[in-house]
Amino acid sequence: MTPQFLGRCMYDLDDYSPEEIVYILKAAKGMKQINLREYKKIPTLRGKTVCTLFIEESTRTRMSFELAANRLSADVVSFQASVSSLQKGESLQDTVYTLNAMGIDLYCFRHSSPGSSQLVHKYSQKPVINSGDGRHAHPTQALLDIYSIWERYGDLRGLKITIVGDILHSRVVRSNLIGMIKLGAKVTICGPKTLVPGGIESVYGCKVEYDIGRALSGADVVMGLRMQFERMSEGLFPSLEEYSKHYALNKDTLKHAKPNALIMHPGPMNRGVEIVPEIADGEHSVIVEQVTNGVAIRMALMFLILGGRA
Ligand code: CP
Repeated sequence: MTPQFLGRCMYDLDDYSPEEIVYILKAAKGMKQINLREYKKIPTLRGKTVCTLFIEESTRTRMSFELAANRLSADVVSFQASVSSLQKGESLQDTVYTLNAMGIDLYCFRHSSPGSSQLVHKYSQKPVINSGDGRHAHPTQALLDIYSIWERYGDLRGLKITIVGDILHSRVVRSNLIGMIKLGAKVTICGPKTLVPGGIESVYGCKVEYDIGRALSGADVVMGLRMQFERMSEGLFPSLEEYSKHYALNKDTLKHAKPNALIMHPGPMNRGVEIVPEIADGEHSVIVEQVTNGVAIRMALMFLILGGRA
C-alpha cells in the first residue's frame, strides 16, 4: 500500500512507519536529481504557500526549507521573529491566526518550547513540520542524516552508528534514535555521564558507553554532536579542554572505528571542541553532503504533504 502523506504533520519520526520513512528517502533521491540539474526548479507546488515560522535561530534548516519550497515553485513567506509583532507582545496564537488569514498551506516551525508544533497545528489546522523544538525533536534533520547513510550503504540494517557528544540537550539525537533504530541500525551513544540522560537505553533501545574507545569500536558511522552551551545553565563538565581530551572526534579516537567510517555532524560545529577540523574536513566526512541532502529531504516532504504532482 502506498503510504499516505497528504495533509499530515511531522512532529517527530515516531508517527512514521519504517516503510513511510523509506518512501520519503526514495522521494528525496528523485529530488536530489533535480537539484543536480542546471535548471533546478519544477512547477509541482505552484500556487501553494509555505511559511518558515522560526522563533529560534537557524541557518541550514531555514535556508534549506526555503530553497526546497522555491525549487518546487511554492510561494515562501519567511517570518522574522526579531522584527515581528511578537516583539510588541503578540501571542503565538494571534501570530498564527494572522498568517493563516493570508493563506498559508504549510508551516515549517521552530521554537525553543518542546511540543509547540502541535499548538501551531491546533491554531492553523494546516500541516506543520517540526523544524526543531527545544531539546525534543528535529525530524527533518534525522531524515537527512538517515538519507546520507542510506545513500552510502543502501540499507541501515545491522550498521553500527555511534553518536558522541552532548546527548542531554540534543533534539537531533532523539529523532535520529527513533529513525535509525526503526530502520534496523544498532545505535550507541557516548558522552560524559552528565550529558547523557538516565534511562535513555530503555526508552529508545540504544546502547550507552561513557568510554569513547568502546563506543567507537567497529563503528560504520560516527556522528559528533555540538556542545550546546546556550542550553546549559550549570557546568556539566570541568572545562572544554577536559571535554575535548576525552570525547573529541580526532585521529586517535577514530582509530577504534572502521577505517572507512562515515563522519557526520548535524551542524553547527564547534571546531576543535567536539570534532577537530582535520576530521570535519577529511576524506570520510559527509558533513557538507548532509547539508546538500537536507534540501532534497525537505523538498520530498513538502511535495508529499502538499500533494504535489510530478
Ligand atoms: N542542524 C541544524 O538544525 O542547524 P541550524 O540550527 O543552522 O538550522
